[in-house]
Amino acid sequence: MFKILEKKAAAHNVWKYVIAAPDVANKAQPGQFVVLRLHERGERIPISISDWDGDTGTITLIVQAVGHTTRQLAEMNAGDHILDLLGPLGKPAIIEPVGTVACVAGGVGTAIIYPEARRHQEVGNRVLTLVGARSLDHLFYLEELSAISERVMVATDDGSYGHKGFVTDLLRQLVNDGIHLDLVIAVGPIPMMQAVSELTKRHGIKTIVSLNPIMVDGTGMCGACRVRVGDEIRFCCIDGPEFDAHQVDFSSLLRRSHLYERSTDGCKSTGKVEEGCGGQCHK
Ligand SMILES: Cc1cc2nc3c(=O)[nH]c(=O)nc-3n(C[C@H](O)[C@H](O)[C@H](O)COP(=O)(O)OP(=O)(O)OC[C@H]3O[C@@H](n4cnc5c(N)ncnc54)[C@H](O)[C@@H]3O)c2cc1C
Ligand code: FES
Repeated sequence: MFKILEKKAAAHNVWKYVIAAPDVANKAQPGQFVVLRLHERGERIPISISDWDGDTGTITLIVQAVGHTTRQLAEMNAGDHILDLLGPLGKPAIIEPVGTVACVAGGVGTAIIYPEARRHQEVGNRVLTLVGARSLDHLFYLEELSAISERVMVATDDGSYGHKGFVTDLLRQLVNDGIHLDLVIAVGPIPMMQAVSELTKRHGIKTIVSLNPIMVDGTGMCGACRVRVGDEIRFCCIDGPEFDAHQVDFSSLLRRSHLYERSTDGCKSTGKVEEGCGGQCHK
């Protein structure tokens, strides 16, 4: 059992949890995640380790309540216990001195990019952070990111804070301004990571993405998280979650991520509204 020591709102519908998990806290590295199960009948969900403290034996998770389990978690409070918490899982991010690094985050991806941006700063890289969100009340970690970044640029869809538009506009602006980037890291919704990848590919800038496919066991056994990278099929939970963006097949990743959504249009073959195909099976 893993005790929730602190819970507070990070942003609209996004919660920050500090959890007692000494074994995870002692081994965690940027880029890694845990798989948690709230109770005996619960589903397993992957959540990135956004921060950790080996001295206090705690980890920090930032969770957006989007569906069944994350909404159940949103109802839990300090003092409650999570049944299972497995980790740290996934390969740690490769972080070495390279020069200038642009960290591009969309939505809850901000939680994932933070420990990586911090480590890049620690190894002496110049960190430029670009954050995108729907609106001002969806933004979080700006102070933390400002402390470790040379510059933080923000975009909101509705213009309530920073640039009105997408975070990719900010990246395009950096590139057009002639700022030399040695590495770009992008974490966020699949279409956003794909847009970043297409932009940087045109400019020959090495780019890493942290993928978030559907996962079940998180240990390489079930195959749910498979993703095509170059000519190979890779399992995101054990081979990733980080991959060379220019090698990732984003179209199949997007298709697979909608696999279990309930279709409101009806299945293309049967016409029935069914769970499972998400209306995608005959696209
Ligand atoms: C390696 C990894 C790290 C992640 N880190 C974080 C994190 O730090 N914070 C966080 O809030 N979320 C994170 N996610 C996403 C999180 O795992 C999902 O939001 C969660 O599994 C949804 O479960 P649910 O039961 O609440 O939703 P469900 O009821 O299963 O689904 C509800 C909605 O969420 C969508 N969804 C389901 N799984 C995912 C997924 N993997 N990614 C995106 N959308 C999904 C579904 O398509 C559906 O629209 C991460 C995912 C991966 C693979
Ligand atoms: S989640 Fe099962 S193989 Fe990756």
